[in-house]
Amino acid sequence: MARNNLFVVLIFLGILANGLGPFGVNGLSLTYYLFTCPLVESIVKVNVDKILRIDPGLAGPLVRMHFHDCFVEGCDGSVLIDSTPGNKAEKDAESNLSLRGFEVIDEIKAEVEKRCPGIVSCADILALVAKDVVLFSGGPMFFVPKGRKDGRRSKAADALVKLPPFTSNASQLIDFVGKLGLTAQDLVALSGAHTLGAARCSSFKHRLKNFNATHDIDPSIDPEFLKVLNKTCAAGDTAEQPFDGSIIQFNNEYFQALQKNKGVLFSDQTLATNPKTKELVDTYANNRAVFFLDFQRAMIKMGIMNVKEGSNGEVRKTCRKIN
Ligand code: HEM
Ligand SMILES: *[C@@H]1O[C@H](CO)[C@@H](O)[C@H](O)[C@H]1NC(C)=O
Ligand SMILES: *[C@@H]1O[C@H](CO)[C@@H](O)[C@H](O)[C@H]1NC(C)=O
Ligand SMILES: *[C@@H]1O[C@H](CO)[C@@H](O)[C@H](O)[C@H]1NC(C)=O
Ligand SMILES: *[C@@H]1O[C@H](CO)[C@@H](O)[C@H](O)[C@H]1NC(C)=O
Repeated sequence: MARNNLFVVLIFLGILANGLGPFGVNGLSLTYYLFTCPLVESIVKVNVDKILRIDPGLAGPLVRMHFHDCFVEGCDGSVLIDSTPGNKAEKDAESNLSLRGFEVIDEIKAEVEKRCPGIVSCADILALVAKDVVLFSGGPMFFVPKGRKDGRRSKAADALVKLPPFTSNASQLIDFVGKLGLTAQDLVALSGAHTLGAARCSSFKHRLKNFNATHDIDPSIDPEFLKVLNKTCAAGDTAEQPFDGSIIQFNNEYFQALQKNKGVLFSDQTLATNPKTKELVDTYANNRAVFFLDFQRAMIKMGIMNVKEGSNGEVRKTCRKIN
């Protein structure tokens, strides 16, 4: 009884904190699988925890996968589809750069299918995985509305235009996410996901040489950090540069790095100078709790963008293949 009450209280706290009605939005709901696959959340969590204990470096790639999924065609598992002879899929677009961890999603989907075959969409699994990775890595907990259906379209060409380029400045990024219904605040909070993981030299080398017509090197880079980036790139295009002090700890150090002009991507560093985003960067750098609160809200918002419901989608049997 006491446990049940606690459960109810937690659910309602979650609803209040996340600003969702009891049935969520868009027809998605926190209790979508309550009767059809009640254990899905714990199956996903147990597996995410197990996988990250073995390979913590997958934290970044797994969270990024949900972002790439949601920005292209809505959160519909389209990023998971493999190319076929007639179709070059999203994951094979050049902007996929270093996406990885697909086998982890396959593994978790297989575990879920064992318990509740044909019930849980790959898109929902991706959203749940992202949530569990954030919590495992020391980030905030949040509740994920469920009921997304998997899409039937996955095209490399879509990914090229629907994902913001790393050469964008803050005002371009604000415009870009604005078209998806996200605010400048959502943008800065979500960019905080870069507290996890790393970027390859190919994503920032444009800042180090032939930057633009007037500057050979991006003048916004801290001189000491410039040496670090340059050294990373000496090891080749695929050499990795962590976004902040740790690729596996979810915290607000990424924003502190931006304040010190030690942002790795041009698109990140520009958030610390644009008047519409600078104040948020400072707030998050100084106050981890505010960052966590805004991040969880923004993740829920991103996670329900343009989702497919009912007959607009399907529940894939295998995440890599349309049924
Ligand atoms: C909005 C503008 C964004 C831009 C321009 C951007 C760009 C990038 C780029 C260029 C990389 C490095 C890829 C590589 O070199 O391997 C990267 C990595 C990453 N991104 Fe973003 N990103 C954005 C937003 C997001 C969002 C919203 C999330 C998640 C909520 C996210 C999560 C990540 C993570 C976790 C990594 C590290 C991946 C790894 O360790 O392999 N990013 N991003
Ligand atoms: C990303 O795209 C490239 C180029 O098409 C492809 O060779 C690579 O396998 C893709 N990466 C993933 C993880 O699918
Ligand atoms: C951002 O980039 C666009 C396009 O290159 C440019 O027109 C604009 O002036 C830039 N904004 C800032 C604040 O640098
Ligand atoms: C080159 O970049 C710097 C710093 O972002 C900027 O001040 C300058 O106006 C840019 N030059 C051109 C020609 O775009
Ligand atoms: C970066 O490294 C290259 C050699 O790899 C060197 O020629 C160049 O001067 C370095 N630039 C800076 C700014 O350290």
